[in-house]
Amino acid sequence: MVEARHTEYLGIPVPPLPESTMPTAQKARILTREDYTYLKLQDTLQQQISDLTSYEDVQISEPSKGIEADYAFATHPLAKSLRKNPTDIALSLAAQINDGRRPDLISIVSGQGGFLNLSININPYGAEVLKEIEDYRESYGSQNIGDGATVVIDCSSPNVAKFMSVGHLRSTIIGESLARINQATGHEVIRDNHLGDWGTQFGMLARAHELWSEEYEELRDGSDPVKGLYKLYVRIHEEVEKEKEAEKTRSGNPDVKVESNLEKEGRDWFRRLEGGDEKAMDLLKWATKQSLVEFQRVYDLLGTKYEHMLGESFYVPMLPDILKFMQDKGIVHPDNKGALTVDLEAQKLPRLVVQKSDGTSLYSTRELATLVARSAWFNPQRILYVVGGDQREYFQQVFAAFDQMTQGEKRPETEHISFGMISLPEGKMSSRAGRVVFLEDVLSEAITRARTKTEEVSRDSLTNEEKNDIAKKIGVGAVVFFDLGQGRERNIQFDWDKALSFEGYSAPYIQYAHARAEALLRRATEQNIAIDPETSPVFDQPSEAALIKHLSRFPETVTKAALLNRPDIIAQYTYTTATKFSDLYHDVSVLHEPDDKIRNTRLRLTQATAQVIRNGLRLLCIEAPNRM
Ligand code: ARG
Repeated sequence: MVEARHTEYLGIPVPPLPESTMPTAQKARILTREDYTYLKLQDTLQQQISDLTSYEDVQISEPSKGIEADYAFATHPLAKSLRKNPTDIALSLAAQINDGRRPDLISIVSGQGGFLNLSININPYGAEVLKEIEDYRESYGSQNIGDGATVVIDCSSPNVAKFMSVGHLRSTIIGESLARINQATGHEVIRDNHLGDWGTQFGMLARAHELWSEEYEELRDGSDPVKGLYKLYVRIHEEVEKEKEAEKTRSGNPDVKVESNLEKEGRDWFRRLEGGDEKAMDLLKWATKQSLVEFQRVYDLLGTKYEHMLGESFYVPMLPDILKFMQDKGIVHPDNKGALTVDLEAQKLPRLVVQKSDGTSLYSTRELATLVARSAWFNPQRILYVVGGDQREYFQQVFAAFDQMTQGEKRPETEHISFGMISLPEGKMSSRAGRVVFLEDVLSEAITRARTKTEEVSRDSLTNEEKNDIAKKIGVGAVVFFDLGQGRERNIQFDWDKALSFEGYSAPYIQYAHARAEALLRRATEQNIAIDPETSPVFDQPSEAALIKHLSRFPETVTKAALLNRPDIIAQYTYTTATKFSDLYHDVSVLHEPDDKIRNTRLRLTQATAQVIRNGLRLLCIEAPNRM
């Protein structure tokens, strides 16, 4: 568990960390590059090449098409500094490496064209890789990059008294996956769910509640308070629009800027809230409690947990100190209406407003307070904000303002992990317009459809209860993979058929490959065929070699995904694992193979594949049922 380290930052007092901090999940065994054959090989080659050339950034890559080799290294970037032609460099490197440290693993080294091409000896290489997967199991792929540095992940962060939107679903899923990837790479992770529970919106809600709460049955009898609150929310926005329209018609000027009475009353209520008005606070606390019950249902479906769940409201008591600090530093200036702003012209950004002219706070003010508090509590190396791309400029402003606040001081790195919009076939979702498909409906629809599908494809005899459980894993997995599998920044159009397909780039396809592997292992047990991990493997067919080489690259894939904050890299890799396993499954028979050694190799390969698929899916928060 991370302990509160300071109760101040930049000299700004920070309230103590509330007890709500949860212990972090049990940690994976953290391995290092030295523990993996592939990474060790890569490092050895890298070393030998850089010894020779003092060239820092050696990149080993896939050989070009048509070259029979496993790794390649382009020598032309070295030509200039070495004053030699690329082919000569490749040839002399080849000679060097042939005398190198692992001749047992590298069979052919050749310098063709401007490339150094290396082939590995598949049997000893595969033996090492299988052993690693069998030894490290669920930790296979993990490695120590972070050295225990703390990463705070601001994610999910839905708004109280509203339904969680599909955008929040993306933030929840991407945030959780990045949390797991960071944990697997030796970081201390704090998932911080920054609930939206403050702001003018809540003033509006309080006013709506005061006016109309009696009209809604869900609120009167308490049967569905969040739905009731949501109706109030939609209603007050509609009424505001009506008021404005009426005013425009009355004045005869469609462009006139009108303020509606309701908006003004909402703002008054918000001022009362900021002043600590008890009635307003009670309503908000009640609404928060109700909303958390709703959110929790989604978190349970997805299997996400938070080390922290502090709403914006928690940071409100810090605001006077934050503003005073900024004033003392001379980084806020009143504008002509009396609002306080931070000038960001030097950073070529619009000014950031931190206090409204009526003295109330904004999203941005509470953001800066949160940033100060997190810096004090956790001393994090990085804070990742998993928030939609529509807040890109806002985060640039916030980070720039924080730069001005921290000048010269040690500060955490801050990064906006932005993502594109997701739209459902029904059209873009907007809770304000009331045209909305609730998130839970999306997940339950996925589960229902998955249930029908499993009925179609399932070959195992399963009880109803098992089928329901599997449908849940497939349905939720399908939605999650559809999201994580694509580049984060892209706008995506949700497609039921693609998401739930058992054939294409989808979770069910991968889960199915995994279940097949597990079924095969079960059959082996039934037939009393024991797997012997001590007999040296024999990789007999190209599809076997291709699969084990691919499995050996999982640790490297995890590194890349962690460094680039890209779960889609894991998704691609895991999908390819499934396709390579399917190739093998089509090419060779396992249980009927007469040669003991070859059969044993195939069984171990099957077991290792199932393990790697599970590890990949786990980093994507997708479950892998053993039967389908
Ligand atoms: N509640 C906000 C929204 O729904 C997202 C908050 C994201 N996190 C943050 N630190 N601003 O738009």
